[in-house]
Parts: sequence; C-alpha cells; structure tokens
Amino acid sequence: MISVSDVSKVYALESGDFFALKNTTIQVGKGEFVAIMGPSGSGKSTLLQLIGGLDLPTSGTIEVDGIELNKLNEKQRTLFRRTKVGFIFQNYQLLPMMTVGENIALALSANHAKKEEINSVVQKLLSDVNLQGKESAFPSQLSGGQQQRVAIARALAMKPSLILADEPTGNLDQKNGEDILKLLSVLNKEEKITVVMVTHDHQAAQVADRIIVVRDGVVVTDGNKGGNRHETVANRMA
Ligand SMILES: Nc1ncnc2c1ncn2[C@@H]1O[C@H](COP(=O)(O)OP(=O)(O)OP(=O)(O)O)[C@@H](O)[C@H]1O
Ligand SMILES: [Mg+2]
Repeated sequence: MISVSDVSKVYALESGDFFALKNTTIQVGKGEFVAIMGPSGSGKSTLLQLIGGLDLPTSGTIEVDGIELNKLNEKQRTLFRRTKVGFIFQNYQLLPMMTVGENIALALSANHAKKEEINSVVQKLLSDVNLQGKESAFPSQLSGGQQQRVAIARALAMKPSLILADEPTGNLDQKNGEDILKLLSVLNKEEKITVVMVTHDHQAAQVADRIIVVRDGVVVTDGNKGGNRHETVANRMA
C-alpha cells in the first residue's frame, strides 16, 4: 500500500519557487496496477521518484508498506530502494561495462548474497524474461526489447513488493512494447507485485486497473477506466 499525503516538491529557481508537485494526495492499494499519465513536465517522474525514495518531498509524507520514507536516514532509504522497489526506466539504465548476469545480480551482490544463490536467482530470472543463455552478453549486444527485459529481471532480483516503471515502453516498437506490458501484467497478477507505471501511451495505460492524470504538478483525475475501482481492488486483494 502506497500513501502519498499532501506532498509538494518545490525547486527554488531564480524566477521563484517552482512546484513540480503541488499538494498531491494519492493512494495505491497492494497489488494494484496504476498508470500515471499527463503532459511532459507535469510531474510524473517526480512523483515516481518520491514514491521510490530516490528523492524526498519538500513537504507532505509518503508511506510505502507501512514505512514512512521521511523518517528514514540515507542508509535506510538505500536499503528500502534496494529491497522493496524495482525500478524500470525508459532508457533501461543498464551498466554498459557489466554483463547481463552482473547487471541482474547488482542488488544481490550489494546485499552480500552468496555466489551460488546469485547464480540460481540470475538463471531463474533470465528464464522468466525469456533470455536464457544471454548471461554473458553485454547490454550493447542486445536489442532494446531484450535490454528492457534485463532491466525487469534486475528490478525483480530482490523480490520487490513494488515496481515503479517510468515510460518502460517509450523506446520500444509496438511488438516489444506489448511484450513488456504483458510481462508487467503477469508480474502484477501472478506475483501480486504492485505496479505504478508512467506512460504517454493511452493503449499502454489500458493494462492498468486505474489511471491517474497529473497536470502542472496536480492530480486532476484519479479513477479507473470505467467499472468500479473499489471492486477491482477488492477482487485483487481477495
Ligand atoms: N532538479 C530540478 N530542478 C528544477 N526543476 C526541476 C528539476 N527536476 C524537475 N524539474 C521540473 O519539474 C517539472 C516536473 O518534471 P518531471 O520530470 O516530473 O516531469 P514529467 O511529467 O516526468 O515529464 P516527461 O513526460 O517529459 O518525462 C518539470 O517542469 C521540470 O522541469
Ligand atoms: Mg518523466
């Protein structure tokens, strides 16, 4: 469960204070799949970064699975990101000098997992994202769709309860984009991972249970795409 309460993110510019987010309040239930839409510069990535503990709000509070992010120190926040959240970005953000296997294993290594455990997790994840045999390849040797699947495998390594995806299909063609959306949908439905996905693409947003629209740092619409949101959430949680 994610609870964003009266959150603002303010940047001090020469021209004065700029509100990237203004008094934003949203809740996302456990196991929900939410799409965040809105024009460029409206605050979508800012919201995602705050939920994921990559950045702190100027005011307001954010709670994820009962953890109040404002109350964590730097070290605890790093641990929160590493263990609770899987991040997926538009440009994949794989480390180019590391192999696919090493990229996937990053968080496990940082958390001092044993070598055998790392190996078995990496093999399982490679098979989950249909990239068997690519362990020793470098990111530059893979297609965009394959790189994004490595990024998803990396995001899953620590068994996060939450996936935060910022335009995960933004750099992909239709077919690869659909594959990624399907994968996210399966993770949401079968593994019960909560997914919050920023997208510009109305079709991509259709995989979500609910669409939140942000404009100029303010949530302007928060509802599902017809039907009863509460029933959807309740069914999912049952
Ligand atoms: N470090 C910063 N300093 C000043 N302004 C910033 C900073 N980071 C973001 N902003 C501003 O905050 C606003 C929201 O940015 P954000 O990246 O959240 O937009 P977005 O909705 O994700 O846009 P896009 O769809 O283009 O990715 C923008 O106007 C941006 O210029
Ligand atoms: Mg953005």
